[in-house]
Amino acid sequence: MNEMSERAQFVTRLGAIAATVGSAVGLGNIWRFPYEAGEHGGGAFLLIYIVCVFLVGIPVIVSEFVIGRGTHKNVSGALKQVAPGTPLHWFSYVGIVASLMILSFYSVVCGWIVEYLIQSIAGHMSGHSAAEYSAIFNNFVSSPWRSMLWTLLFLLLNFLILRRGIEKGIERVSSVMMPLLFLILAIFCIYALTLPGARKGVEFLFVPDFSQLTPKVAIGAMGQAFFSLSLGLSCLLTYASYFQDRDSLVKNATIIASLDTLVAILAGIMIFPVVFSFGAQPEAGPKLVFEVLPNIFQQLPGGYLWSVLFFLLLFFASITSTISMSEISITFFTEEHHMSRTRATGLNTVIAMAFGTLCALSFNVLGDFKILGKTLFDLFDYVSSNVLLPVGGIFFSVMVGWYINRTFVRDQLTNHGTLHSWVIKPLVFCIRFVAPIGIVLVFLYGLGLFDGLL
Ligand code: TRP
Repeated sequence: MNEMSERAQFVTRLGAIAATVGSAVGLGNIWRFPYEAGEHGGGAFLLIYIVCVFLVGIPVIVSEFVIGRGTHKNVSGALKQVAPGTPLHWFSYVGIVASLMILSFYSVVCGWIVEYLIQSIAGHMSGHSAAEYSAIFNNFVSSPWRSMLWTLLFLLLNFLILRRGIEKGIERVSSVMMPLLFLILAIFCIYALTLPGARKGVEFLFVPDFSQLTPKVAIGAMGQAFFSLSLGLSCLLTYASYFQDRDSLVKNATIIASLDTLVAILAGIMIFPVVFSFGAQPEAGPKLVFEVLPNIFQQLPGGYLWSVLFFLLLFFASITSTISMSEISITFFTEEHHMSRTRATGLNTVIAMAFGTLCALSFNVLGDFKILGKTLFDLFDYVSSNVLLPVGGIFFSVMVGWYINRTFVRDQLTNHGTLHSWVIKPLVFCIRFVAPIGIVLVFLYGLGLFDGLL
């Protein structure tokens, strides 16, 4: 048996899509997107967001897919193969380090979700006043032990799934959780649309207010698209290295980007009518999910069930994302450093636990420990989302658009000439020009280079 056929793969086409959609659909969609869209011009933001997804998002997804599926290797091994004898493979460390940073702060929020899920199941999330819900959340995050323990518990669950490998771990879990996620989301949306505030809520999300559309909002939309689609850190490259040779990369990328956008929109349809029906403020930001919604749920008929379902939805969304972030370094450790899967997964978990603990403590004992004026939690979020993701996006689109052997790229896009599509030409144009130029502009603007000009 040669080395290739021994390497794990996603065994079914649906499993590969479930896993990748699972990576993309996460807190970014269900919590961050509705809030950002609502704040920044509703329908106008949505329009810009969709343009970013299609003109920049899909081209970068395809770029990562081409390198991953074309080599069937971890990010470092893949870069060594497509750019032999060059130092370009060092770039893999950007993805590995950034993914560990995201995993660390993301797991803290996932820990809160596990706590709220368990509290909801135990029936402790009902019968309080609005002020009490705020107090419950504040008490919780300001307790170093509680937030730390839930973060660690979440990472342990993450470990248990990952240790079982690609097919029995990631693929199986995603194939069960993703359909359930869509089912819960559909139930919520149908219910939300029957509430008295439905109209106002849907308008808040969809009616475009072009006066709010500033360049800053466009940057927000691009950043949101990158985070939501899991772009730039070789997460999708790593998953694509487990795709089969018969899978169509362009089709998969389109399905994944479309489903991810659909979930973001459905999350808005689910949340805002509920918020407006109860006269709550949609601008509540991070607090919306943990302070405002539990209070609303308890006032709904069947509130217990809504609360459990909601935190279950968040749990499914988040754990299918954290396993994908972890897989980047795990595949790297097993293939480049010849570790066993269990050891590699253990190492990933220990690193995430160490930094995750520090991030959890940012909300209490380490609240005053600041670097560049930010707590560790905020710093990890800021550096990874605003700097490393776009840098990664530029890197992968330039590699595939300009550097890598043309035949290699064409073979991957057309499955060695067996697939034909009119999309490929415009797609390659976006990979070469639109994506890198778009990201550079947004990036420079983000660094404040155009201040005063716009
Ligand atoms: N896309 C996920 C979300 O929306 C987060 C995520 C998973 C991610 N893997 C990633 C973000 C890799 C950046 C890079 O919540």
